[in-house]
Order: sequence, then structure tokens, then C-alpha cells
Amino acid sequence: MEGILLCVFIFLLAALPLCMLFTRDKTEPRKKVKLPPGSMGWPLIGETLQLYSQDPNVFFAAKQKRYGEIFKTHILGCPCVMLASSEAAKFVLVTQAHLFKPTYPKSKERLIGPSAIFFHQGDYHLRLRKIVQGSLSLEAIRELVTDIEAAAVAALDSWHGGHIINTFQEMKKLSFEVGTLTIFGHLKDNYKGELKKNYLIVDKGYNSFSTNIPGTPYKKALQARKRLNEILSDIIRERKEKRLHEKDLLGCLLNSKDENGEVLSDDKIADNIIGVLFAAQDTTASVMTWIVKYLHANPKLLEGVKVVLESLRMASIISFTFREAVADVEYKGRIIKSKHIYF
Ligand code: HEM
Repeated sequence: MEGILLCVFIFLLAALPLCMLFTRDKTEPRKKVKLPPGSMGWPLIGETLQLYSQDPNVFFAAKQKRYGEIFKTHILGCPCVMLASSEAAKFVLVTQAHLFKPTYPKSKERLIGPSAIFFHQGDYHLRLRKIVQGSLSLEAIRELVTDIEAAAVAALDSWHGGHIINTFQEMKKLSFEVGTLTIFGHLKDNYKGELKKNYLIVDKGYNSFSTNIPGTPYKKALQARKRLNEILSDIIRERKEKRLHEKDLLGCLLNSKDENGEVLSDDKIADNIIGVLFAAQDTTASVMTWIVKYLHANPKLLEGVKVVLESLRMASIISFTFREAVADVEYKGRIIKSKHIYF
């Protein structure tokens, strides 16, 4: 993951008056630091309508072209700063990581589930990280190789016949299969079907305009997320009744106890299952799609063993991520104010 060139979009909730710069030595004479260039759009809605009326990539690329690697905007209800360069990504995620904390817009948190790993820090985050990593150990994956191969072969077979397929969509189907295998092991077909159906609706609404108006993609996604909770609680209840101690992610989540012997609640387990599915599906599908593209352009690459790493280097899989500044931060003569979210 470290090798990926992230474009870092920082969305800032303008709140506190600009007073002291966190990174500045107090004995130094006060420098004049400006806010990044850019437009905050209309009161309240900012530039959210512009974002949704065009391809978000075009929206951000046009701004980047006009203002450069750092600019401000106001979208999804937050005054924000966007940082878009590998140097900025390193500043926020590595060298000055202590000045930022992970955050996500509330609309996305509601769809994934507030107890998912991404929205936490500290002991709870550490505990979940160990659980997720444990479920992906070599030992656990070795047990799944035959099933993963069967899923890959079934996917390849379904592409026979000379019809046109959308590689990314097909890879999403495959990564969903492998994701559910890693999370649940073998799942009954009726559960799998219901999970897939409702997860697709959540996925569709995830990047849509957040509103409670019935019939909109976001509202439909919220309703589907509720249904996912019901399906997951049935699966969890069944697993508990059978007292199975599987090594898949669900098993690891069910078996985990904190230092006081407390187990995770069913809701926390459900949020983390949906969270891992989200983290795993599009990322893996993107990288597999790029691999197919590069292999098609240069079949000789197949001889090398670094196809995956090289694809990750060439193609940015995650185009944005979120952080909130925990203090006022100066970057290249511009101020990023505290309590602000960045993508
Ligand atoms: C090539 C594929 C993948 C890429 C490029 C990728 C990329 C990333 C990145 C950049 C982050 C950090 C986001 C941030 O800090 O804001 C992240 C976090 C995470 N990813 Fe992946 N990911 C991939 C595959 C997966 C898979 C298959 C899983 C399944 C378990 C997964 C689970 C997670 C989890 C649980 C986190 C949160 C970690 C934490 O908060 O400590 N990812 N991923």
C-alpha cells in the first residue's frame, strides 16, 4: 500500500480563528501565511452541486490545473483543502502524520457503519487491525486457495463466447466472491444472494449526493445497509448456535476478547464486515483491471514476478483518502486549519 502515489484531498471544516501556526517556532517572527487559493462556492452548499453535476475527476482536475497542488473548496458540507501531489501525500500520511487524524464524511460513515476500523484510533483500532490481519494470514489464505481458484476459473468461463465484458465490473464480481470467502468461508447461497443484492445498492449510493429523499440512490443505499445488518445478524446468530470456531474474518471477530474479556457486539462485527468488504472490493478489482491492461499491452511481463507491484506503481488505485487536521498546519506557505477533513 505504501508504494501507491496517493492524491491527497484535504477537506477542512473552517471553524477556529487563525491564530498560531502549529509548526512554527514561537520565538520566530510571525510570518504571513495565506489560506490556499480556490473558491468556497455558495453559502452552505459550497461547490457540492458543481461536484455532482460533472465527473468528480474532472471537477478536481480542473481545479488542480487552475490553482496547483493545493487549493480550498467547500463540498459535502465541509470547508476543505485539497492537496494533490505525492509530496503532499507523504507530508500528511508519513512525515507529519501526527498533525492529522483519519476521518470520513458522516454520509459515508453511516453507510459503512460507525464502528468500522476506518473511523477509529487507539486501542479499539489496534484490536481490529490485529483481527483483520489475522484473518489474512498465510495460513488462513492457504486454506482458501482451492476455493479462490474455483472462483477465478468460474469467472474466466463466464467470459467465454465472444461477448463484450466490462473488465472492472467483472473483477468486482470476482473480488466480491473472494471477499465473502475470506470473511465467511462457505456461505449458504440464499445468504450470499441477499448480501450481494443489498451490497450492490449500498455500493451504488456510496458516492451519491447524501439526502433522505425517498427514491434517491443515497436513501436506497441506507435502506439496503439496514437490510445488510439483518442478514448479517442472521448469519452471526447461526454461527454462534453452531459453535463453529472458524479462522475466517467472522470467526476472528467472534472470538476476539479485549483485556476485560469483552467480546465485540453483533453491530460492531457487522460494521467491520461491511468495512472490510468495501476496503477490499474496489481496490482489488482496480488493481486486477490494471494488471489485465498491462499484461495485454506487454505479455512479456508475465515472465516477471513483479506484475502486481509494477501495476500498483503505474496506476493509482486509491485516488483520495480522508484526514482531519488536529492543529493548524502550514504547508508550502499555506495554512490548513484545524478540525478540517482532507480526502
Ligand atoms: C491493491 C489493493 C488495495 C489497496 C491499493 C489498498 C489501499 C489502502 C489504503 C491506501 C489504505 C489507507 C487509507 C487511509 O489511511 O486513509 C487502506 C486501508 C485499509 N485497507 Fe486496503 N487496500 C487494498 C486492499 C485491501 C484488502 C484486500 C483488504 C481486505 C482486508 C483491505 C483492508 C484495509 C483495511 C481494513 C484498512 C484500514 C486499515 C487501518 O485503518 O488501520 N485493503 N487500504
